[in-house]
Amino acid sequence: MAAAQDLSPVFPLGSHRTRQGRLVVGGCDAVELAREFGTPAYVVAVDDVRARARAFVEAFAARTDRFEVHFAAKAFPCVGVLALLAAEGLACDVAGGGELAAALRAGFDPARIHLHGNAKSERELAEAVAAGVGHVVLDNLEDVERLEALLPGDAVQGVQIRIAPGVTAATHPAISTGGPNTKFGFNLSAAPVAIARIEASPKLALEGLHVHIGSQILELEPFRDAVAALTRLGRFNSVNLGGGLGAAYVEGDRPPTIEEYVEAKVAAVRELMGEDVRILDEPGRALVANSTVTLYSVESVKHNVDTYVAVDGGMSDNLRPMLYGARYEVHLADRTGSGTRCHLVGKHCESGDVIAYDVELADPRPGDVVVTPATGAYGFSMSNSYNGALRAPVVLVSDGRARLAVRRETYEDQLARDV
Ligand SMILES: Cc1ncc(COP(=O)(O)O)c(C=O)c1O
Repeated sequence: MAAAQDLSPVFPLGSHRTRQGRLVVGGCDAVELAREFGTPAYVVAVDDVRARARAFVEAFAARTDRFEVHFAAKAFPCVGVLALLAAEGLACDVAGGGELAAALRAGFDPARIHLHGNAKSERELAEAVAAGVGHVVLDNLEDVERLEALLPGDAVQGVQIRIAPGVTAATHPAISTGGPNTKFGFNLSAAPVAIARIEASPKLALEGLHVHIGSQILELEPFRDAVAALTRLGRFNSVNLGGGLGAAYVEGDRPPTIEEYVEAKVAAVRELMGEDVRILDEPGRALVANSTVTLYSVESVKHNVDTYVAVDGGMSDNLRPMLYGARYEVHLADRTGSGTRCHLVGKHCESGDVIAYDVELADPRPGDVVVTPATGAYGFSMSNSYNGALRAPVVLVSDGRARLAVRRETYEDQLARDV
């Protein structure tokens, strides 16, 4: 009998192939999941999310007792996933009113929710204040004016100020946010005036600086450079270092480990800012990217010049390949092997709707269940209903049990807003 087969390390922790070659995630057979919940579907391995949350908390706790790990909700703003992270004791940052509503429903303590945004509406600010969020992260002077104006009586709101530190980390330009010329935050020359303005306000309690230099960052030096830049603005009680740690999307990708990332950030703050500064960190991608696989069904296999394997999802459930040229692995759920070089394409009316170019599959056929691992970050959150696609469900799997966290969209859902 053949031995159980090894899987690519980008699959959720605990995933494996049976001796017959069937993929198992969270103890559940992937083909059975496709049958029960339909495709496309996001399948989240609960133990993977928990393990990564614990790894972040333990890595900080081993180095400092003045820290807080926030989940950047934008990476996977589904109540079921947020609730897992709330239960692990994480705090949460939200980038708008919708994410705030999800974080509240998931059970985060409002005092440990933090509101971001470079274009916050008055409504979003009011909702954050009404909820009692811990920090509003001020991005521009309009934020300052609006927040002050809506705070009732002698209410005081905790705030941080977002700084653009002039540090450009190597990543896709669309997710590089720390350079000197960016739409996010105040650059170093504008920051002192804004800080003075906030400090002069009796309604705003400035608790520290915030910086987020970008996402899918694979080197550690830029995080230290960002901390060094912040020291030019004075001393503060806390610093929020944003997120940014990259994830492994295909075998061979080697992002820093959680341990290495936390070590780099804590060491930078302790050496450059001092021992007593509280460190807030906001990982998104690194907490959830590898927790999830997407299941698709093959609808057609076509040989033009190349071979096109077309599935029932695509840019409606995973925009990252189209936005950033992001790469994904592709596997069949019930067998391994190769032999057919092909492109895995989506069902949408764009030639660019290609999930993965030049992959090898073993004689893919209509009806096969295809799996793309590492789709937990920014897949669900950027999902859309292009071509009337029904947005995919989220299924949480653990110990062989599967639970629906978000149901599939219906035509009624889509038409409900037409008046
Ligand atoms: C302000 C802020 N914090 C945290 C994050 C999370 O980043 P990542 O998912 O790369 O960890 C983002 C995402 O871009 C962000 O904009």
